[in-house]
Parts: sequence; structure tokens; C-alpha cells
Amino acid sequence: MKNEVVDGIEITDHLRRLSPEQVREEILSGLLDSPRSLPSKYFYDQKGSRLFEDITKLDEYYLTDTEKGIMRRTMPLVVGELSDADVIELGSGDCSKISILLESIPEESRSTIRYVPVDVSRAAIVKSAVKLRERFPRVRIQGLVANFHHRIEEVPDGHRKLFCFFGSTIGNLGQAESESFLAGLSEVMRPADRLLLGLDMVKEVGVLESAYNDSKGITAAFNRNILDVVNRLVQTDFRPREFDHSAFFNSEVNRIEMHLVPRRNSTVHSPYLQSPLEISSGETIHTENSYKYTPDSIESFCKKCRLNVENIFMDEREWFSLVELAAD
Ligand code: TRP
Repeated sequence: MKNEVVDGIEITDHLRRLSPEQVREEILSGLLDSPRSLPSKYFYDQKGSRLFEDITKLDEYYLTDTEKGIMRRTMPLVVGELSDADVIELGSGDCSKISILLESIPEESRSTIRYVPVDVSRAAIVKSAVKLRERFPRVRIQGLVANFHHRIEEVPDGHRKLFCFFGSTIGNLGQAESESFLAGLSEVMRPADRLLLGLDMVKEVGVLESAYNDSKGITAAFNRNILDVVNRLVQTDFRPREFDHSAFFNSEVNRIEMHLVPRRNSTVHSPYLQSPLEISSGETIHTENSYKYTPDSIESFCKKCRLNVENIFMDEREWFSLVELAAD
């Protein structure tokens, strides 16, 4: 563990970093698997993070604006009386969502609030914390560099806690992984603690698929960028432009799947592979899942994770849900 102060922001570093060998093992085993896949965390190098930010601003990508709209309307109900509390944001990214929440806490209570952004990127935490400090000078900010699903127990102890996990990011985990993550969270939550969980809802397939197939091709560029990241990490010679972006709704499991599809048979080399990869044009590389929910599936999912649904806040179109949960 490492405590430091960067640009006046208190940061604790708890990140368990993988060794280069472990990174290579993780990437190559996915590529050799059948069907082939890549761990979606490798989307987010600097360019990938920028492209993702661009995605959230697209008209077709309704998730971000819809969630923010719900927050503007409902946060006064949720945090209007909050004081002496830790607000812990998992996978904090930029500060626009948490600003809506902090804005809804009465000015006189803000000095009793501690905001704990948790993210794997120290730079992202510092950047957003510096902005927040200007806007909310009374809120104490204490960043935590960590992988949100490994280090929940490291969150500073003491006050009542409001965990926030926005953006339907939980839907990018596999089912077993998301369940064990939420069940683990439920275990560390005390009766007064709450979790605000953002979940994207099942809706008309055209709307869902447009969100992941935008007309400017930004999601396609984001998807292909993972091959540049992989080329750097395992010295492969993927040619990203020879792969098509494919994103579709799989209605059997209620998820958007993202794949990379080679236009023709392709051979990929790496000094870390015994023999070259032969990827035929009939195959895909599966890069991401984004699970979508229904009111019923929210209930059963949360129950399995030993979480009690206190409130479900939705927009008028019922496209997105912000679920307020307590430990069961
Ligand atoms: N959780 C969001 C979603 O599933 C963000 C996200 C993760 C995303 N990976 C993505 C968005 C890939 C577009 C493309 O929508």
C-alpha cells in the first residue's frame, strides 16, 4: 500500500498489477480459446479512454444522458439528508455524474462528506478530483487506485457508506463475476449503507444496436483499438483495419455482444506464440458484453447477490434504471 499526495489530492494505491508475463498469458489464452476472445479491460489505453469518452457523447449512445437525467431528478431524494458519510464511486472515470450527486447534498452538509473515487487509473482520479475540489471545496476527497472488484474491503472505514456504480458497467462483467462482486459488496455493507447501481434496460433492438453501431464509426474505432493495444503488449502483428466491427443484441441472454470479424483469413505472429494464429474469416474475436436488464431480472439478480431493492428510479421511456440497494 502506498499513500501519496498528488496535486494536493490524497491518493492510496492498492492496485495489484499483473506482471508482463501474466498480461501476456491472459491475452494469448483468450486468443487461442475457441471461440476467441480478448479481456475488455485492454480497450482502455489512452486512445481507448478518449474514444470511450467520445462514445458517451454520441446521440445514439443514450445511456449516459439518460442516467444523468434520472440522477438530476432523483438525487435530491436519495442524498438530500445525507451527512457524515463516505460516497464511494467504483470505476469513477470522469466527474460529471458524481457532480450531480454532490450538488444535491445541501451545502451545509458537504463538509461532513468524504468522496472516495476508486479507479485503476491514478491519472483519471487526480484529473477529476482536481475539478471536483474547485466545485465542491468543502468535500474531502480521498482517491483509491484499485481494481474495483478486488479491493472493496480496502475502502476507508468509519462512516455510513454510499457506494455508487454507474454507467451499467456491472453489465460488462460475466454473470458469475458480477454476482460474486455484488455479493461481496453486500457482505461489507452495514444496514445503513446503500448502493446506487446503474443498469441499462432491455428495449427495442434497433435502439440497443444503434447505441453500439454509431454512424460516425467511433465505437468501431474503439473496438479495433484493442488490437493496437494487444500488438504492443504481446508484439503481435494484427492489422486492425482488416477487422470489421460487429455489435448485435443476443436476445437469448439479453446482452449486446461486440466482436471483431476478420475480412479474410489472417495469420498473426507473436514471439510469445509457438506457432502463428490462423484466424479464419468465419471466426470472430469476442471483445465485450453489455448485459441489459428487465424489472424482473433486476429483482432476481439482486436477490441472488443478497441485496434488497429499496427503490428503482427510471426515466420516462424506461430505458435505464438507477437502483438503490441495501444489504439483505
Ligand atoms: N457499460 C457501458 C456499456 O456497456 C460502457 C461500455 C463498456 C461500452 N464497453 C463498451 C460502450 C463498448 C460502448 C462500447 O454500454
